[in-house]
Amino acid sequence: MIKNTFTLKSLKSKCLSGKLSVPADKSISIRALLISSICFGNTKISNLLESEDVKNTLNCLKHLGVKILKKGSQFEVFGEGGFFKDPQKELFLGNSGTGLRLLIGLLSTRNINVNFTGDQSLSSRPMMRIVEPLKKMNVTIKHNNGYLPIKIEKNNDSSLPLKYSLEIGSAQVKSAILLASLNLSGATIVKEKFPSRDHTEILLKYLGADIKKEKNIITLKSPNFLKPKDLFVPGDFSSAAFLIVAALITKGSKIIIENVGLNFFRTGLLEVLKNMNAKINISNKKLLNGEIVGDIFVESSDLVSTEVNSEITPRLIDEFPILFVAASFASGKSTFKGLEELKFKESDRLKTMADSLKGAGVELGLKKDSLEVIGNKKQQGGNFVDTKSDHRIAMSMLTFGLAAEKSITIDDSSMIKTSFPKFKETMNSINANINNVSK
Ligand code: S3P
Repeated sequence: MIKNTFTLKSLKSKCLSGKLSVPADKSISIRALLISSICFGNTKISNLLESEDVKNTLNCLKHLGVKILKKGSQFEVFGEGGFFKDPQKELFLGNSGTGLRLLIGLLSTRNINVNFTGDQSLSSRPMMRIVEPLKKMNVTIKHNNGYLPIKIEKNNDSSLPLKYSLEIGSAQVKSAILLASLNLSGATIVKEKFPSRDHTEILLKYLGADIKKEKNIITLKSPNFLKPKDLFVPGDFSSAAFLIVAALITKGSKIIIENVGLNFFRTGLLEVLKNMNAKINISNKKLLNGEIVGDIFVESSDLVSTEVNSEITPRLIDEFPILFVAASFASGKSTFKGLEELKFKESDRLKTMADSLKGAGVELGLKKDSLEVIGNKKQQGGNFVDTKSDHRIAMSMLTFGLAAEKSITIDDSSMIKTSFPKFKETMNSINANINNVSK
């Protein structure tokens, strides 16, 4: 049954066309706020993403005594070098794994007492991955059997730098360790088995931290005294991904998405799609506070199947749901391996996507951590999707509906606001057919 009024329906659409931009990058927005709060002086951030996840991070910083003002379209963060006050109440991070894990890292060596909570989805996501390295740094951290609520306590500055081999491809864990070590004395070294997005490293370097990367080894020498510089947040590639696939699978489409972040560790999807015969071109590349940004041109294409192996997984981790949609409309059998980490996202994305696609008539084979999708240019659709309150499942299945024979309805669209608040309006501005469902 339809749960509430926040439901959407997508219908087969005619050619998508136009030039547009996507909302600012969520990962970079959260890092911009957190890292500017420990600078010595004020940072002006332009194009900060105003989504639920980012707002929760911003509110937490305010509870920690950081002054942040919105002036026109800019946010000004009054950094005090990392002096935070004990918050009067628990810090609520909502749905945001990035906000939570990075903030715990950042605060864990600042000699304060803080309690952290989140929504139902965040409360069921594993936290031992950050607790374990932070404990090795001598941080006093308490948890609920590896889950929220988490508490960090004053430890009279007894934390230590760390040498750590990171066995999973997780930028959140890597960033938590790096942010924790900024305030310590000595070198922290993180060796990544599966290198992941490096926004934290890029921003720290841009603001003057003593950080270097050689192959897959990151060395951060601390303490660091970060100097503020004005920041501009590029468009979010993970949001652009829905538009890219929408244009590829909707006949006669041609779109240009401007000013999208093209960080190497975020854009694995482009490589996979190009192998699938996608017509995609990048132009106007430039550097913005250390991050590569450019325009993406996409034309509808006759996609063919692909094989994706675990090495590239961290470079398209958030794009698997929409990649499964692309594979559904490609000719032939696509195989995706090494998908274990998908189970620990806002929902178990492997199972949620497999169930949703199956309901839409897609032939597939689900194993423990792999998926086979038998593509077909014509897909039936017509189902009611249980999104498990996961924004990327909601947007992926709505995108599926643009090319399916029958409409797709999702049970709940309210979580879309965590990353892409104007998703429906943006899609419809290029001719997509997504409507509110009346009660
Ligand atoms: C993120 C890292 C990834 C990604 C998440 C954002 C980040 O999570 O899935 O959406 O900003 O660092 P993991 O580090 O858990 O892989």
